[in-house]
Amino acid sequence: MPLPICYLNGAYLPLADARVSPLDRAFLFGDAVYEVIPVYAGRPFRVREHFDRLARSLAAIRMAAPLTTAEWAEVCMQLVRRNGGGEQYLYVQVTRGAEFGRSHAWPEGLVPTLFAYASALEPVAAQVLERGVSALTAPDTRWARRDIKSTALLANVLLKKLAADGGAYEAILLERGELTEGSSSTVHVIKDGVIHAPPNGPHILPGTTRDVVTELAARLGIPAVAAPVAESALRAADEIWLAFATRGIVPVTQLDGQAVGCGRPGPLFRRLYAAFDQYTRELTSKAPL
Ligand code: PDD
Repeated sequence: MPLPICYLNGAYLPLADARVSPLDRAFLFGDAVYEVIPVYAGRPFRVREHFDRLARSLAAIRMAAPLTTAEWAEVCMQLVRRNGGGEQYLYVQVTRGAEFGRSHAWPEGLVPTLFAYASALEPVAAQVLERGVSALTAPDTRWARRDIKSTALLANVLLKKLAADGGAYEAILLERGELTEGSSSTVHVIKDGVIHAPPNGPHILPGTTRDVVTELAARLGIPAVAAPVAESALRAADEIWLAFATRGIVPVTQLDGQAVGCGRPGPLFRRLYAAFDQYTRELTSKAPL
């Protein structure tokens, strides 16, 4: 559920009172980029990494950075405080702004729209941790620049709905016989004690949670490999994990109706989940930004 106070173009105001123009290019063209940042115990998590990625998305769509990372960090802290701290996630969006011509090739000099709001971050359900979730595979129907975190998410939306209609939690996407990612998550494939995920590149979003998984795996001495993952390897996995900012790591125990490994969250998931949980808890003992 969204929390009451949002940020719009430099002001903090009730979300219920926030207004943007219907001529905003985000509304007309999906001409905008975004970030989703989890907040644990009142501390926004991996702020630098999220705003580095936002800067890369903005540069890729030829927009100047409207705020510095320090200014964004202040917006995050204000939103967290004004919405009562605790566990939240922040949605941050930058659009190219509004103009009257609906020109595909945008005119110069537009004023970007900056919008951010907070939502409650619900803990992952105990049942998900005990039993895992199901996923189905689907062809990756998205565009060629999936590294840009764009709000133009129509293909992702249709893929997630396909999964939901099939009673699944996520659609795991395949292209030319290889895994790309989930409709809103990075996919990790575990085989013989090694974590595999496709290398970052234009075909997937470079996930911030993925980087946490890689760092924690290194600490635990679990090898992690960034290399193409064949569909056959996905189907022969011992474990499959989804990683994304609003949920951390989630075990997939059914793929296209077949059990993944033993059909329960696996031993490496349990180790990584415990390490992830401890890592986010440690933030509570550290000073805010
Ligand atoms: N989605 N790939 C896609 C297509 C995503 O949409 C996401 C996250 C990820 C994982 O990235 P990260 O670990 O930085 O969250 C990978 C967010 C949560 C969303 O759109 O709500």
